[in-house]
Parts: sequence; structure tokens; C-alpha cells
Amino acid sequence: MTTTQKILVLNGPNLNKLGVREPAVYGSATLGDVEALCAQTATETGLEATCRQSNHEGELVTWIQDAAGVYAGIVINAGAYTHTSVAILDALKMAGLPTIEVHISNVFAREDFRHHSYISPVASGVLCGFGIQGYALAIRGLAAIIASSP
Ligand code: DQA
Repeated sequence: MTTTQKILVLNGPNLNKLGVREPAVYGSATLGDVEALCAQTATETGLEATCRQSNHEGELVTWIQDAAGVYAGIVINAGAYTHTSVAILDALKMAGLPTIEVHISNVFAREDFRHHSYISPVASGVLCGFGIQGYALAIRGLAAIIASSP
């Protein structure tokens, strides 16, 4: 019997406010919509998604630490912590899981401080500018990576 592999979908600060937060940049979908899309896409790709959101850097770090040995991969939109957090980078390095970085907006078309990511160097792939569909694309990409790993 094969067990369904699990993936962890993490959203960082302010992403709980999707739908009301700067809709011209992030659209009208809510975090609930994102998590439903992730759950559905995971199921379609033979995976099971656990979705979590936190406004606290340390909580995200703990979840990443605890992911090793439980999850087959991580999809992460670390929000503003993308541009500031060595702690999240270190946790992802330690977890050693295939990781896809997602941003709803095209961060490269925005302010300069959004052009640098501490996460990208350890990410297997990076998606930005596809709106919330970026999460679905990330899960499909992660599923392919997981399927091809020994
Ligand atoms: C974001 C982009 C970040 O620069 C910003 O701080 C966010 C959201 C995105 O999804 O486009 O909170 O990660």
C-alpha cells in the first residue's frame, strides 16, 4: 500500500489579509481561496497539502524545522520575510526539502527592496506574478520534483 505524500504550504505575514489587502496588487481572492486551490491541486497531483499561515517569523521557522521527515516538500510565500529573513533561509537549509518560492505579485516589477530574496538560493523553483495561480503551478512543479526524486 502506498501512502499519500504530504506537502507543506506556508504563507507568511499579512497574507491572512488577502482579499482586502491592496487588491490592485494581490487580487480579490482570500487566503481561504488560496488554501482551497492548494488542497485541490495537491489532490490532483496525488499529494496532500497542509496549509498554514503566520504573521510571526519564529512560528514559520518552527514549522519548517518540524517539516523534515514529515513532508516531501514545501511551497512558501514568506511575504515580506522573503526580503529580510536569514532565519527562514537557515531553517529551509536545515530541512533540506525541495522548496518552491511563490509570490502573488511580480516582485521584480515593484520596489527595489522586493527584488532580493533570502529564500531563492535554496529554492528548487521560484514563481511570481501569476496571482494565486502561482500556488497551483508551484504544487504541480513540486509534484514533478517529488515524483522524480529517488
Ligand atoms: C508577496 C510579495 C512581498 O514583497 C510582500 O511583502 C508580500 C507578498 C507576494 O505574494 O507578492 O507580503 O510575497
